[in-house]
Amino acid sequence: MRSIVFLALWACTAAFASELSVPALIPAPVEMQRYAGEFRINAATRIAVQSAELSEVAEDLAQHLRRATGFRIPVDKSRLKVASSNRIVFALDTRLAAEGYRLNVSRQRVVLVGASPAGAFRGVQTLLQLLPKEIEREVVTKPLAWTMPALAISDQPRFGWRGLMLDVSRHFFTVDEVKGFIDQMVKYKFNLLHWHLTDDQGWRVEIKSLPRLTEVGAWRVGKTGTFGRFSPPTADEPRDYGGFYTQDQVREVVAYAKARYVDVLPEVDMPGHSLAALAAYPELSCTPGSYAVNAGEPMFVRQPGEHSRALVDNTLCPANEKVYAFADQVFTELAQLFPFEYLHMGGDETVRSFWAKSEAIQGLMEREKLKNLDEVQAYFVGRIQKIISAKGKKLIGWDEILQGGLVPDAAVMSWRGMQGGIDAARLGHEVVMSPSDFVYVDLMQGDAAIEPPVYSSLRLSKTYQFEPVPEGVDARLVKGGQANLWTEQIYNMRHAQYMTWPRALAVAEALWSPKDKRDWAGFVPRMEAHFKRFDEARVKYAPSLYDPIIKATEAAAGGLQVEMSTEVAGLSLHYSFDGSFPDEFYPAYSAPLAVPKDAAVMKVIAYRDDKPLGRMLVVPVEELRKRAGKP
Ligand code: ACM
Repeated sequence: MRSIVFLALWACTAAFASELSVPALIPAPVEMQRYAGEFRINAATRIAVQSAELSEVAEDLAQHLRRATGFRIPVDKSRLKVASSNRIVFALDTRLAAEGYRLNVSRQRVVLVGASPAGAFRGVQTLLQLLPKEIEREVVTKPLAWTMPALAISDQPRFGWRGLMLDVSRHFFTVDEVKGFIDQMVKYKFNLLHWHLTDDQGWRVEIKSLPRLTEVGAWRVGKTGTFGRFSPPTADEPRDYGGFYTQDQVREVVAYAKARYVDVLPEVDMPGHSLAALAAYPELSCTPGSYAVNAGEPMFVRQPGEHSRALVDNTLCPANEKVYAFADQVFTELAQLFPFEYLHMGGDETVRSFWAKSEAIQGLMEREKLKNLDEVQAYFVGRIQKIISAKGKKLIGWDEILQGGLVPDAAVMSWRGMQGGIDAARLGHEVVMSPSDFVYVDLMQGDAAIEPPVYSSLRLSKTYQFEPVPEGVDARLVKGGQANLWTEQIYNMRHAQYMTWPRALAVAEALWSPKDKRDWAGFVPRMEAHFKRFDEARVKYAPSLYDPIIKATEAAAGGLQVEMSTEVAGLSLHYSFDGSFPDEFYPAYSAPLAVPKDAAVMKVIAYRDDKPLGRMLVVPVEELRKRAGKP
């Protein structure tokens, strides 16, 4: 009799299973099976921890649940309670893959089995995504049914290096802001913060043996507008914009990240991008003179048909022994502050036009038998590698460190597309993929008519196509990838969030989920569910994926023509050329449009089910003409 009832129940469950809603998880898990029913957290729910190693992760979840639900959520460390119902059970299974976990939710209990505390922590993020979106709120005021759908998940990451880079040099972000950035990244299973700590616009980490780096190098004239086009600072403008992290603050951030199973990779960018260091210690340059921290005024002049010309030497001098003493002091202190196995030396975009004119460099080339400036740079990287290696760390740098030959043991971060990573892997180096054409989240994500100006664009749908392992490359050498947030044009953390999300959701999925689970059409509705979570968490995100994609062309008949499309299926684009606001009764785009001869402006906005989505684009016809290449 019991077995008949059981069979009937099983049949019902299986029958319903196909119609059960699937939770919107990002990144998509390796395997998920949905069952009928749900687990409900209530005043009597307890957490049971089977392995003392998982106590901290369990307590972390308890605190989160207490804050949102107002329930007591006690954490039991005794094994005996495990079989009882209304429990969230934490267990360890070291046979699971690194950072892997299994999560079973039934009506009676939730069981989360982690490969390690890190695995359990990643599983907790999934668990939280199963709860109502209000779990993201600081304070929940109304009573809610805190339910999770019954299911079984088995999950593990595709890559061990799942990073986000935050540039704190161009604009400074406080310790609390950096912690908030970490809070947000761990929700999507990122496990590495690449902290770009130095550049031409500011030195942000206290080096006790080199105090001028932060006394002088951390401060510049503060400007607002379009970075890179600012007027040069004048003597009467105060140099009071900036800041730096004391070593205690660095330790605080590293500990905060570690408690969330995030490694912190510090970057000190050299020999280029070093103007802030030169402002403090000008003797480290090959070009005698005085230097000031850049405030966003042009550093290069474009020369049509040629490389742009540098106006200032922002490089450390490879021919100067003081530079290596300096690097030793910097990396000695960094190695003590950062437990992560790598130190990032930058190495990108070194301006060598001043080296070409330097007698010191000429002397170095003769002494060391270096044939060209590629080899001068390679000599520099080799010296830095010895310093970093002497601290017990491994060197990683941007892909230019391959130029002139790279010492073994160094890892390469490929940013100028994937080619640097491909070349490095062929030479046997470990690589991290962060190609600018897929994962540079500083680029505009929609039409320039509405996004703050940046030199190029990268739409979410392109980011979603990011595939870290190119054809023909040994996948074992690809450690993973990361999205990079350069902050020239990012003046505050709200905008940093806007630029990061949702593109980092796409990157999270590329780095965690199996390749065959990637599916743009399936990703979009899941992402939209997370937009609601961002709203609850008060995190800004970009609705740019709803913005029309506009292409202006010159029609055969000689008139100006506009084609429109969308990144997301199922939107209708309503437009006007008369200046009025296009509501959902206005004409919907269906075929290339002839722009009325005397129109001054085009307005267009996306609707779904008669509701406006995203923002209205307002594009002057003059601008359309420019884009079409019409005079
Ligand atoms: C870079 O974007 N210059 C690494």
